[in-house]
Amino acid sequence: MTFPLHRLRRLRKNGAIRRLISETTLNVDDFVAPLFVREGISEAQPIDSLPGVFQHTRESLKREIDEIMNLGIPGIILFGIPEKKDSTGSEAWNPDGIVQQAIADCKSIAGDDLVIMSDLCVDEYTDHGHCGVVNDDGSIDNDLTLVLYKKIAVAQANAGADVIAPSGMMDGQVAAIRNALDETNNVDIPILAYSAKYASGLYGPFREAVNVSLENSDRKSYQQDWRNKREAMNEIKADLDEGADMIMVKPAITYLDIIAQARELTDVPIGAYHVSGEYSMIKAAGEKGWIDDKQVAIEQLTAVKRSGANFILTYFAKEIAECL
Ligand code: PBG
Repeated sequence: MTFPLHRLRRLRKNGAIRRLISETTLNVDDFVAPLFVREGISEAQPIDSLPGVFQHTRESLKREIDEIMNLGIPGIILFGIPEKKDSTGSEAWNPDGIVQQAIADCKSIAGDDLVIMSDLCVDEYTDHGHCGVVNDDGSIDNDLTLVLYKKIAVAQANAGADVIAPSGMMDGQVAAIRNALDETNNVDIPILAYSAKYASGLYGPFREAVNVSLENSDRKSYQQDWRNKREAMNEIKADLDEGADMIMVKPAITYLDIIAQARELTDVPIGAYHVSGEYSMIKAAGEKGWIDDKQVAIEQLTAVKRSGANFILTYFAKEIAECL
C-alpha cells in the first residue's frame, strides 16, 4: 500500500483545523495554584527564584484569592511559613498557626467556590527542614512522624481545608491521616496523596519560598529515587489501599512516563505537580529572551495533561489562565 504525499500535513494547514482535531485541550479547570503565606511580615515578599510568586501576608493572600477566583481557577494549595520553627514543627498543628488561619481566611472568602487544598508536611515548620522527626543518628522516625501528621490533618480540616495533601513520603501516612480524619468527624475530607514524589533537584526555589535550607543533607531516604518506575507504582498502590482519594506525581515533566503508567494503573483522579524548578527554568530562560516562556509553559502543561493527569499544580496557573 502506498500513502499519498502530504497525508498528515494537510490536517495541520491552519489554526482552525488544528483546533478541530486537537486531542488535548488545556483549560483553566486543570489548574491548582500553589500559594505561600508567611507569619510575621507586614507586606508580601517577592521570591527571587520564583518571579511573580510571593510569600503572602494574610491580607495579601485574600486579595490573591479574589484574583484567582476571578480567573476561574478551581483550586489552590496552601503552604505556611511560621515565624518560629522547632525540631518537630509544632506550628504545623497549632490551631492558631499561620496556615490554619490562612485556610480559614480563604474559606471565608471562597466558600465552596474554590477547592482549598492544604499541603500536609512539617518541613516548612521544622528548624532542620526535614519532613519528619529526625533521630540522633540523622535518620527519620517514620512512625513518630505519623503521630504528628495526624494532628496536622485534624487542625487543617478543622480550619476549613477541603482537601488534605500529605507530601512527606512517610510510609503509612495516608492510612494514619484517614483514621485521624474519620475519628474527628471529617469523613468527607478527601486525601490527595503525593504518592510518587521523587527526591528531585527541582525543588530548589521552593526551599527559598519556605525559608528552608537542607545543609549537608537531603531527602533521599524517604523521597523516591529517580531511577525507579515500578517503585512508583508500588507507592501509588499502597496509597490507594490506605484510602487515598486522588494521587499525585511530582515533579511533572521529568516523570511523564510515571503519570502515563499511573493512568493505566488506576481510575482515581491524578494530579501532577509542575514544581518550582520547572517554573523557574522556564522563567529564567524567558527573561533572557532565549525561549518564549508562555509558549513553553503551555507546551509543558499540555504535555502533562496529555500524559494522563487530570489536574496540574502550577505556579503558572494565573498567568496561563489569563491567556487561555
Ligand atoms: C514538602 C513539599 C515540597 C514541595 C512541595 N511540598 C518540598 C520538598 O519535598 O522538598 C516542593 C514543591 C516545589 O518545588 O514547587 N512539604
